[in-house]
Amino acid sequence: MVLCKKWTLAKPFIGKVTPDNFKLVKEDIPEKLNDGELLCEAVYLTVDPYMRVGAETGNAVGNTLFGEQIAKVIVSKNAKYPVGSIVRMRAGWRTHTLVKDAEKEISRSAEMGDLPLSLMLGAMGMPGMTAYFGFLELCQPKAGETVVVSGAAGAVGSLVGQIAKIKGCKVIGFAGTEEKCKWIKEELGFDFAYNYKKTDVDTALKEAAPDNSVDCYFDNVGGMFTVKVLTHMKTFGRVSICGSISNYNDTSVPTGPLPFFSILKSQLRVEGFIVLRWYSRWEEGETAMRQWIKEGKIKYKEHVTEGFEKMPDAFMGLFEGRNTGKAIIKM
Ligand SMILES: NC(=O)c1ccc[n+]([C@@H]2O[C@H](COP(=O)([O-])OP(=O)(O)OC[C@H]3O[C@@H](n4cnc5c(N)ncnc54)[C@H](OP(=O)(O)O)[C@@H]3O)[C@@H](O)[C@H]2O)c1
Repeated sequence: MVLCKKWTLAKPFIGKVTPDNFKLVKEDIPEKLNDGELLCEAVYLTVDPYMRVGAETGNAVGNTLFGEQIAKVIVSKNAKYPVGSIVRMRAGWRTHTLVKDAEKEISRSAEMGDLPLSLMLGAMGMPGMTAYFGFLELCQPKAGETVVVSGAAGAVGSLVGQIAKIKGCKVIGFAGTEEKCKWIKEELGFDFAYNYKKTDVDTALKEAAPDNSVDCYFDNVGGMFTVKVLTHMKTFGRVSICGSISNYNDTSVPTGPLPFFSILKSQLRVEGFIVLRWYSRWEEGETAMRQWIKEGKIKYKEHVTEGFEKMPDAFMGLFEGRNTGKAIIKM
């Protein structure tokens, strides 16, 4: 038997996420497998803001929290995945997984070459594809245009800003600390970086994008911040609604001011998305990201938390802005 630890939902997420939302459960998994089965051990896990919303809508108390992980095959009765193979799968917050149907349970891995495996949960995984497709497809940026990114030092936002620079845009990022702003400006090449906790967004955009000259807005945070950004858009501007993290812990019904008049007045195209809509094209996104990383045009940072026991704490950290770049759990 192998001892598996898993984090389950102890109490539904209502308002702020707290330690009592989580329960650590242990279970034994048999090492004697049937033909076709695998036993996998997690190597890297991920915490992402969507888990907060997803658990609210789709996860029952007692269930293992969901999410992707990179795992190593430790026992195999499947020739396609010999012992030592590295796999990516949506096994959830658990240290060990018995894979009964590898074809269904194991996701396609990205071609990583000599890149670190953990990037399959970041720039070469779901967040990377979110930045690549969510920005390029919906914002359609052109050289010389002005792009605003919120959540700009996070997993997705830091990549969006760099892709915008690659496309020849002027990039304005908003993040929650001076250190994050320094990183995106000095190391990632953003043209402007503002700490939204200290600088009012109107003041910032009057300086960085005067006379309503924002062509594209990639929105990670929603709420009043976004309502304000929309008043600085150029006519026919494009807005990609990726996330709304400023609302995820908020139990109140959002009230006005609502952004519809800004959308009408500037004839904006505003579109929300779920990245899986481009899943059949992920290989294309991975190829571009891999190339840009190799060329040094895309830099990445990982906020690594060591130890499975600390996973809830790392998750809560997302809502406190503790991470710069991608939040990763290392076993
Ligand atoms: N649509 C999709 O398919 C899709 C896919 C992936 C992610 N997303 C969304 O994209 C957004 C970014 O995800 P990510 O994985 O890159 O996370 P992340 O940015 O790496 O981590 C979350 C960050 O959000 C910021 N934040 C937390 N609370 C905030 C608040 N009340 N107001 C403003 N900022 C706040 C914090 O940075 P600061 O220090 O800057 O506040 C924190 O570090 C999330 O909203 C997520 O749900 C959507």
